[in-house]
Amino acid sequence: TYVVTENCIRCKYMDCVEVCPVDCFYEGDNMLVINPNECIDCGVCEPECPAEAIVPDTEAGQEKWLEINAQFSAEWPNITRKREQPADADAHKGEEGKYEKYFS
Ligand code: SF4
Ligand code: F3S
Repeated sequence: TYVVTENCIRCKYMDCVEVCPVDCFYEGDNMLVINPNECIDCGVCEPECPAEAIVPDTEAGQEKWLEINAQFSAEWPNITRKREQPADADAHKGEEGKYEKYFS
């Protein structure tokens, strides 16, 4: 499976949802997550994200993000259409420590 990681927080560009063939993205206030049970591992979303927030869960150190994606995809609503990104999305691109600062 692929997972959405910290770089998405407060960027939330939503380009990813437009390309996913199985519509497995779920939307929180500050970021999206992927449902690992629905993702078919096609990889097309990875290069679409301007924040480089999407990675395969086989990449080292992604255990925490796999858990977050699994947990919150069960709670948050499904999202299949890109809307306008947050007005300050670009200001948060590449920012460090976004999980501690903003994730809730
Ligand atoms: Fe969707 Fe493919 Fe990305 Fe999985 S890897 S979330 S199936 S686009
Ligand atoms: Fe987030 Fe990138 Fe999608 S910033 S909403 S994972 S395009």
